[in-house]
Amino acid sequence: MTTNPQARPAFGTLLADRMSIATFANGAWSADRMVPTAPIPMHPGAHVLHYASSCFEGFKAYRWADGSIHVFRMDRHIERMRQSSRLLYLPVPDAAQLERMVLQTIDVNREQVPEPPGALYMRPVIFGTMPNIGAASQPSTEATLIVLASPVWDYFAGGMKPLRIYVEDERHRTAEHLGVVKTGGNYAAAMGPTLAAKEKYGIDQVLFCPGGSVQETGAANFLLIREGHILTRSLDSTFLHGVTRDSLLTMTRAMGFRIEERVFDVREMLEWVKDGEAALSGTAAVLAGVGTLVLHDGTEVRVGSGDVGPVTQKLRAALVAIQNGTAPDAHGWTRKV
Ligand SMILES: Cc1ncc(COP(=O)(O)O)c(C=O)c1O
Repeated sequence: MTTNPQARPAFGTLLADRMSIATFANGAWSADRMVPTAPIPMHPGAHVLHYASSCFEGFKAYRWADGSIHVFRMDRHIERMRQSSRLLYLPVPDAAQLERMVLQTIDVNREQVPEPPGALYMRPVIFGTMPNIGAASQPSTEATLIVLASPVWDYFAGGMKPLRIYVEDERHRTAEHLGVVKTGGNYAAAMGPTLAAKEKYGIDQVLFCPGGSVQETGAANFLLIREGHILTRSLDSTFLHGVTRDSLLTMTRAMGFRIEERVFDVREMLEWVKDGEAALSGTAAVLAGVGTLVLHDGTEVRVGSGDVGPVTQKLRAALVAIQNGTAPDAHGWTRKV
């Protein structure tokens, strides 16, 4: 694998050579097969193409210093995929089968797992294939499940820059009962507000706070951080329950932090960032510091010093060390492949 950062493909643009595939029909899942990563035939009337019956997951396998490969919190991601499938009335993947598909996909592509800070990003996806263009309010009784793998490199190749975040206090990221589902439609819904704010204010991400209540950004959870204390939204159906969020809260609870999980509003966030930190959590970036909040009227609010905060940096390093096997895994989050 190349070590020149300039030559590295952008996140998600390079796929590993092999993928795993299974199909659902007549009430049962087929056996799964490893096949070359290549286009698949699909009926033009497939349910997903018309009614967006699809969901996916994203998590990583890491190469440790001794060359061994370890996948991080796969069980959590499989459970979330099953929950997404249930909430979209898609056939629910069998947990044991999906686990086998993930492990085999990592195994056959093991030569393509980059060294840290890279990783092999795993992307299971399920979609409804029932050929019926009149099934807007009928679930798809047929589906395809695919596990893709993608070698990815450091999200922060250019150094860890503080993010500029637009505070969207009117529009929703998604329908409020579907925020918890990792489905393409949610990203489609967030695209317009995100592109508009990018163009107007040159921001990196949008923090959705409909009615003033802080939720999450387009692709990451949101945490307010200071030494010994974290505030983040309590779990409800309006946002995705991030595995990184859970890992950070579990880790900091064990470090003796006070963890507040509750609803809070933009006003309280603006008070916090006068001398506290803010960060986004997710598989891709782990924990990314926020430097500036841009408000509806264009006002710019500095978060703490305006740089990535020291507690954010410390927590990010602690979690990365577990993922890369350089710190003990006290919670049993890593699994050797
Ligand atoms: C909308 C959204 N929220 C939060 C997250 C973070 O989730 P996780 O930590 O499980 O990657 C993601 C990324 O997958 C996301 O797309």
